[in-house]
Amino acid sequence: MKLLNVDLGERSYVIHIGAGLLQEAGRLFAEKGIPHRSPLMIVTDRHVAKHHLAPLRQSLEAAGYRVCEAVVEPGEKTKSLDMLNSLVATALENGLDRHSTIVALGGGVVGDLAGFLAASYMRGIPFVQVPTTILAHDSSVGGKVAVNHALAKNIIGAFHQPLMVLYDTSTLSTLPEREVRAGLAELLKEGLIWNREFVHWFDEHAEALLALDADALREALYQGCKVKAHVVSQDEREGGLRAILNLGHTIGHALEAVAGYNELLHGEAIAIGMVGAAKLSIRLGYPEAETVYRETKRLLQKLGLSVSIPAHYDTEAIMSAMMHDKKFKEGKMVFVVSPEIGRVEIRSDIQPDWVREIIEQLKRED
Ligand SMILES: NC(=O)c1ccc[n+]([C@@H]2O[C@H](COP(=O)([O-])OP(=O)(O)OC[C@H]3O[C@@H](n4cnc5c(N)ncnc54)[C@H](O)[C@@H]3O)[C@@H](O)[C@H]2O)c1
Ligand SMILES: [Zn+2]
Repeated sequence: MKLLNVDLGERSYVIHIGAGLLQEAGRLFAEKGIPHRSPLMIVTDRHVAKHHLAPLRQSLEAAGYRVCEAVVEPGEKTKSLDMLNSLVATALENGLDRHSTIVALGGGVVGDLAGFLAASYMRGIPFVQVPTTILAHDSSVGGKVAVNHALAKNIIGAFHQPLMVLYDTSTLSTLPEREVRAGLAELLKEGLIWNREFVHWFDEHAEALLALDADALREALYQGCKVKAHVVSQDEREGGLRAILNLGHTIGHALEAVAGYNELLHGEAIAIGMVGAAKLSIRLGYPEAETVYRETKRLLQKLGLSVSIPAHYDTEAIMSAMMHDKKFKEGKMVFVVSPEIGRVEIRSDIQPDWVREIIEQLKRED
């Protein structure tokens, strides 16, 4: 098992990463001092529940905890105020009080929803993240929790740090292959923004990661969480530095919006966005940017991901989705660009025409 500390003063916590942690959960909860007198509530989704709810529940009960559960429908639609409302009812019916802990067992959808429940129920109770997707290395660390509104994603939320994160790599064996590839794209992003050695390591271990090799996953999630933890501990409430995590996300979010959030997975959209950011870096004249572009594209293709925008996506619709994302300052766009592998810069002088041109090029990318 690997341990990683997220350094946030009194809100600091430990990320545990390794195979078989669900079975250790009861012991780890007790060691953390999570009280036995109040019930715990596991929030999970139907896909995850099928494989991983019983072992977690058993482990907690064996350690003397009273446990109730809420199994929600999988998918982004579940991150809603309606669902929050129904979870509050479940919490009240089961007698959750201020000493209760919410346990988020699942991917980013469950983490964000259950995290926001914990942030708001009785003005805030503790919660534990038990991530079960690769992408959740990002969502389970850092304390951003939220639900969606019909008019905007993640618009109702809070900063609420978990008590700890239990990342059981063996849960990933049931993850659909497409989710694996997409999650690995986000993991590669952590290397591209911060850690050149990790990018080399990732290249050498791409096959092992795709095969869900336990050692490779533990190391990669450790390195990915480490980047996220470092950035978050410098900038807990998103004052500035945290924005570097958005490499590939300006174009990526716009593609998700245009595709309607079910055609492209988040990781698939940001994979294309990262290639777009690399192209923009070339345009800005950074000497190493050609290498960034070539390597980013090669690594994403090695993961089996597409790096081109589907031709039927309307360029102007993508541009207007970016405008909607408010990443504009006085007619210029704000973009995370990659001068070299392992380092990014935030530029606020990007001309929309350059981006439009890159979107067009990305439709012909192969
Ligand atoms: N809070 C943050 O900082 C942050 C950061 C990034 C993303 N997010 C949010 O994360 C969400 C996306 O997260 P995600 O990609 O993990 O999606 P997800 O939670 O929807 O999970 C993807 C799919 O995989 C299934 N699944 C999850 N774990 C499984 C397992 N072990 N075995 C089988 N099936 C499994 C789920 O049921 C779902 O169908 C978005 O809502 C996004 O806004 C939040
Ligand atoms: Zn992301």
